[in-house]
Amino acid sequence: MRSSILELLRNATGYISGEEIAKKMNVSRTAIWKHIRELKQAGYAIESHSRSGYSLVKTPDLLLPNEIKSVLKTKRLGKRIQHFDDLVSTNIEAKQLAANGAEEGTIVVSEAQNGGRGRLSRGWYSPAHKGIWFSIILRPALLPQDAPKCTLMAAVAITKAINKVTGVKCGIKWPNDILYDGKKLVGILTEMNAEMEGINYIVIGTGINVNIAKDEVPEELKDIVVSLSQITGERVDRLDLLAEVLVQLEEIYDEALANGFEKILEEWRKCSITLGQEVNVIGIDKTFDGLAMDIDAEGALLVKTETEVKRVLAGDVSIRPKI
Ligand code: BTN
Repeated sequence: MRSSILELLRNATGYISGEEIAKKMNVSRTAIWKHIRELKQAGYAIESHSRSGYSLVKTPDLLLPNEIKSVLKTKRLGKRIQHFDDLVSTNIEAKQLAANGAEEGTIVVSEAQNGGRGRLSRGWYSPAHKGIWFSIILRPALLPQDAPKCTLMAAVAITKAINKVTGVKCGIKWPNDILYDGKKLVGILTEMNAEMEGINYIVIGTGINVNIAKDEVPEELKDIVVSLSQITGERVDRLDLLAEVLVQLEEIYDEALANGFEKILEEWRKCSITLGQEVNVIGIDKTFDGLAMDIDAEGALLVKTETEVKRVLAGDVSIRPKI
């Protein structure tokens, strides 16, 4: 009911009367008045006029399902949206939903996370209303060894979406850190549930630092993270950006399912800031230095050391400063 009322308000040119809304919804004017009151409490600025009716003046800066849907241009991704004010982690919630059968494309978005998780058991700073903290459930008909390529795919989609919406050109550090000027703008945490024969589900969790002011970043992160508003000097619309991320992700995902990952890996190479650099690789069991040459068809990083070319499938890579 609330979403239908919002749609009528959005489509109205100027005011729409309570009577007209009530007629269209087949309920009383008092019921409409009650819903309008609830919408106002939820942060919508709605002007009420005794004769003319209601007019939507401003929507809240929240990633509410109705708001996302009103700007969403995808066919499948984001058709089901779970929104929370605060969660431990959207990945945890999404994995639970996926395990209970949630359909592909379901997204979990939270205004804040109190236990946001990063790669390699790190945390993820997720202040309320300042970023896009969300996870999407995919169910690709792929083998488990193809999962790392889905992470690369997400990094490319997000890099493109950021560029389209804000004009900011950021780069991807293997495998999927999105950086600007050496600082972290976006983190991606991909988790999977699979059997030998196939993937049950993949959860791609994305944290985009959108409107975090420099002076509100905790001291220990000040030299490490950056936000879009710090780069552009302007507040960035989270809704527009999330909608574009989903559009780009759907496009690239459909391409992967139809034609494989070749084109996507090529796009990843173009966005990469790792390739061609001297890097330090902290692998699961050892650490080494070398030249990051390329990624292979599986998405593994190929690093040339003094003696051999090593294939890195997991771990942390830091770009070594030139001396
Ligand atoms: C990293 O760079 O280490 C990955 C960070 C991923 C953060 C996102 S925010 C939304 C989703 N939920 C989480 O708990 N983590 C991911």
